[in-house]
Order: sequence, then structure tokens, then C-alpha cells
Amino acid sequence: MASAPNWKNRTLFTGDNLDIMRGVNSDSVDLIYADPPFNSNRNYEAPIGSEAAGAAFKDTWTLSDVDVAWIGLIAERELALASIIDAAGVAHGKGMQSYLVMMTVRLLEMRRLLKPTGSVYLHCDATASHYLKLVLDCIFGASAFRSEVTWKRTSAKGLARANYPANADTILYYAKTQDCAWNPQYRPLEREYVESHYTKIEPETGRRYRLDNLLNPNRDRPNLTYEFMGVTRVWRWTQERMKAAHEKGLIVQTKPGGTPQLKRYLDESKGTQVDTVWDDIPAINSQAKERVGYPTQKPLALLERIIKASSNEGDVVLDPFCGCATALVAAETLNRQWIGIDLSSLAVKLVLSRLQKAADDGALFQGGKLPEVHHRTDIPTRTDVGKLPPYKTHRHTLYGKQEGHCAGCGHHFPFRNLTVDHIVPKSKGGTDHLDNLQLLCGACNSMKGTMDQAAFVARLKREGIGE
Ligand SMILES: C[S@@+](CC[C@H](N)C(=O)[O-])C[C@H]1O[C@@H](n2cnc3c(N)ncnc32)[C@H](O)[C@@H]1O
Repeated sequence: MASAPNWKNRTLFTGDNLDIMRGVNSDSVDLIYADPPFNSNRNYEAPIGSEAAGAAFKDTWTLSDVDVAWIGLIAERELALASIIDAAGVAHGKGMQSYLVMMTVRLLEMRRLLKPTGSVYLHCDATASHYLKLVLDCIFGASAFRSEVTWKRTSAKGLARANYPANADTILYYAKTQDCAWNPQYRPLEREYVESHYTKIEPETGRRYRLDNLLNPNRDRPNLTYEFMGVTRVWRWTQERMKAAHEKGLIVQTKPGGTPQLKRYLDESKGTQVDTVWDDIPAINSQAKERVGYPTQKPLALLERIIKASSNEGDVVLDPFCGCATALVAAETLNRQWIGIDLSSLAVKLVLSRLQKAADDGALFQGGKLPEVHHRTDIPTRTDVGKLPPYKTHRHTLYGKQEGHCAGCGHHFPFRNLTVDHIVPKSKGGTDHLDNLQLLCGACNSMKGTMDQAAFVARLKREGIGE
């Protein structure tokens, strides 16, 4: 069941998306577009003097003891996921393992936030797309996989010896269930196709058209077998429908006795349905009007296609790695609600200036008045967990569950010496739910403080406690 959101439409959070997503209500988002760092082994900076100057993010990954602790925590929850991360470490190295830890814990949160009718698009490239697909199959289920889109940018990257210059990104699309929003997208017909197929021009109107077959591929349809314009065949349509189309001048015979055919006008064609190869949307180049200079900025047309295909007006779009807010601007233009998250506070400035530009151009907000964009730096508090009993009332249950042992050092303590700790600290979106609680002894509790569990486990290990 979808829950009421605990954020306002048009909210931009500055901070780590893991902390922020943990504080967002479950089942409250229709579409997630995630464009994280790709594990490119580079660090990005916006050019000085550009609108995005000052923006920078790292994309180099080294396995830390906290990552190792994370893998242990992931294994407790979903062993297969931890195995995938470990296997990637063996095949590709520890940097990949660290990158996949970062992605996995966030994708698990994304699964929780998506409504049962929701969809997720993960933008990546060949460096990690194969590992990320395993992770996504494991998190959402292999049957949730819908498409692997190849977005062919027009400019190739990387001219090292003995490889083909990389010219494409991968976008992995998953939908939680068959009930997801789905609006097929179309692109204009290729010129060669128009020229070879739409060869006829109606003299009275100048409209271009082609002739389409009206014969039924199934010959065994007695109710559709009849004579029409002097020709007896098995037709696709009923006699009434054929007659109506004929009266409108849509059914023609090219010669007397010839098989009647249907006129299909070029100006009524929806175009070609967009398939999994997207080579019609160029990357942002130095001359592009929408360019703000943000490193790895994606084109608005790309986001518009995704949002139109996998959401409807009024739906909620979340971009947890929103950068210069391309997805948010596209969502606004298409009348969707949106939330964005980025580590960099520049996203706020950029979304405001990009929305203002769209308003000035008349593309948005008739009258040019920008609606309020909410900027938050706090971690939201979930409001969908019902009224929970005070967390201290779980002490006895936890004491039984842990058989009197501290969840940190593992030593046995009398009941009075163990205190309740929030596994995900409350300051980082953790709730008072039993699943988020553990008992720690005084020393372990003060060592943990407001640390994340993975950082705490790593610290215990470093200090040789509880082994
Ligand atoms: C590839 S860029 C996104 C570009 C964006 N799609 C656009 O069109 O501008 C990745 C973004 O993720 C942000 N980022 C990286 N790690 C993050 C994290 N843990 N939480 C929030 N944002 C993060 C970076 O600051 C960067 O802006």
C-alpha cells in the first residue's frame, strides 16, 4: 500500500542519499532515476567560470574496513548479494567491491521506497553494468528486469590501444510488478523509411501515404471471409468496419479487381516505437543550450523519455544522485512531483536557475512565477511506521534475542548493564522499530555513538574486540 509522503513536492536534499533515503517513507515513489558515479576511476570537476563551477565528485573506490563490515551486514540480510559483491572483488578487484557495496546498500533503500507499481532506471556504463545487473536481479528479482537500454552518445570516449572507443552508456530498467506505469515512446520515422515506404501522394491534399495489407494472416476465419469490392478474401476487419473506412476514402484498389488496401497517412503515423538502442539523443556538447558545465550532465531529452515512458502526470520522481538536477527539471516540465538528493549543495542553485530559465523561455509556469523549491539539509523522519512503543520497552525482548550478550563485544552481561542502541542512528533516519534496535554494553555503546553499524563493526574489528 502506498504511504503518504513525508516530504513536500519539489524538495531538494543536500546530503548523503543513504541517510536521506532511510528517512523517507516506504512505498512513496513511482519512478527512480539513478545516475551515480560509474566507477570510472576519475574524479570530476566543473570547469571554472561555468554555471556549475565548484561542483566536484569522486569516482575512485578503495576497499575500506567499513566496506568489509558492510559486506558482513549485507550477508546477514541477503547472502546472495554479499556473494555477488565478493565474486566481483575476485573477478575485478577490491575497488569494484567497494563500489558495489556503496551501490547495493542504496539500491536496497530504493527498493523500499518504490511503490509496488514503481520502476527504477539505473544509468551506468560497461565498467560495472554487468555486476550491477546481478545486484539488481537479486534485489528486485530477475523477473522485474525489463530492458537494458544502450544510450549511444554521439561522441566517443577513450582512445586507448586495442579497444573500441566507448560510445555508449547502459541504462538498466526494472519495474517492481507488471502493474507499472508504461507509455510506449515513439521517434520520428527515418527519412529512408519514409522515402521507401510512403511513396504515394494524394493529389487533392498533397498528403503522403503508403498502402497497407488488409488480409487476415489467419485463413481460418469464416466470419471474416466475405466479398469486398468484388474480391473475396479473409479480411482483418469486419464488413461494417471495412465499409466505414471505404466511405471515408481510406480503402482503395490500385487496379480493377485488385486486392483492396488501406491508406496509411504519414502525418498520422506515431513514428517508430523506441526500442532498446537510443541513438537519437546526443550527449551535451560544449555548444548545447542546456549545458551548465556540471560534469556528467545528462540531456533533458533523455530524462524526458524515461519519465514519459515510466510515469504519469502527478507521479513522484526521485533522483537520488541528482547532480545539476536534469531529472528534476524534466519532471517539473512534465507535471510530475519530484525529490532530488545530492551531496553537493550546488544542485539547489542549479535547479533554481534552470527552472527560472525554463520559465523565462515560457516553457514552464505561465507568468514566469517559480513555485517554491524546498531545500533541506536535515534527515527526514519516517511517519509510516505507525505509533511505535518507546524503544526502551524492547529491552527484555532484545535481552532474550541476544541471550544476554552485547551485540558489539559479544560478552555476557547482566540485564541492568545492557542498554538499547539504534542500529541506524536516529540522527541518520533510524526508527524505534525492533528491527533497528540492539543491546550494547556501556563501553560499546559509547564507542558506537552516532556511528553507522558498518563503521562500528569495522572499529571493533580494528581494535580486536569481539573476535
Ligand atoms: C553522474 S552525476 C549525476 C549527473 C546528473 N544526472 C545530471 O544530469 O546532472 C552523480 C552525482 O552523484 C552525486 N553523489 C555521489 N555520491 C552521492 C551520495 N552518496 N549521495 C548523494 N549524492 C551523491 C555527485 O555529487 C554527483 O552530482
